[in-house]
Amino acid sequence: MTVRSDARWLVTGAHGLLGRELVAALAGRQVTARGRSELDITDPDAIADAISGADVVLNAAAYTAVDAAEYDEDGAFAANALGAENVARAAALRGARLVHVSTDYVFDGRATSAYRADAPPSPINAYGRTKAEGERRVMAASDGRASIVRTAWLYGGPGDFPHAVLAAARTGRPLRGADDQIGQPTWARDLAKRIVELADRPVPGGIYHGTNSGQTSRREFMRAILEDAGLGHLPVESARAIDFAMPAARPAWSVLDHASWDAAGLTPMRGWREALGDAARAQGWAA
Ligand SMILES: NC(=O)c1ccc[n+]([C@@H]2O[C@H](COP(=O)([O-])OP(=O)(O)OC[C@H]3O[C@@H](n4cnc5c(N)ncnc54)[C@H](OP(=O)(O)O)[C@@H]3O)[C@@H](O)[C@H]2O)c1
Repeated sequence: MTVRSDARWLVTGAHGLLGRELVAALAGRQVTARGRSELDITDPDAIADAISGADVVLNAAAYTAVDAAEYDEDGAFAANALGAENVARAAALRGARLVHVSTDYVFDGRATSAYRADAPPSPINAYGRTKAEGERRVMAASDGRASIVRTAWLYGGPGDFPHAVLAAARTGRPLRGADDQIGQPTWARDLAKRIVELADRPVPGGIYHGTNSGQTSRREFMRAILEDAGLGHLPVESARAIDFAMPAARPAWSVLDHASWDAAGLTPMRGWREALGDAARAQGWAA
């Protein structure tokens, strides 16, 4: 069913990186934007109440502190698995369309070709386990009708990876980036527009991969950020992911295949390098 132009939209996690861009992408529509303090997805009654007035729900709320989740898996599970299920149940009861957002971290990163949307999840950290369980519960609660959009390496706001790289560059200390961590940097603004398109269209329920296309290493991503900021002369030393001691293991190789996206006739996500340049200009850090 195509979403009507007078549909009422609910965005959860609306003050997060992606949530803010979803709300912006919905300008001119009837949108209720709820951050965590206004609508906690772990509260089933509050969720049922909020969704009773919605035709389309975009769930961008999540526990996203990947390292903290190693020590607080219950907390991550509450939002990412139980909270996601609350949203899906309420949306199903109301007959509202649901797009739920998930992550490349449901995979272990050991593949050698792009992960298909139907590849079995095999998470290697607590955050990934809770998100994979969230996907399972969303699909079960919606009888397979919800859409799940997995994304990766999201940026596009204060405190994101490009800002961290530029802040590190300003310290004058040598920069190091992993050559053996490969992924798809994705601009939250590009993704938000495409999620709204997906929600608007009569696509089959299931899993879609929403990432800017192409692939790159963490180090090359850093070099591209510096280039766009006019700091391309700064070297980025080659390192390995293992050199950066972090509590949570990260998938080494997380490139997501766009076949289900393309088969649904959705506008392809453009290449990550072009998107980064536009993000730099839009966010005011381009040279
Ligand atoms: N960022 C990435 O690189 C990345 C990569 C792959 C997938 N994703 C997925 O993309 C989606 C959006 O993430 P993001 O990058 O926008 O993260 P974000 O900036 O951390 O936003 C998530 C928002 O959800 C809110 N939240 C947390 N627990 C909640 C709860 N119980 N009820 C309601 N709201 C809650 C957070 O509020 P507080 O800040 O107040 O806790 C935050 O505003 C998530 O599903 C995430 O798993 C992100």
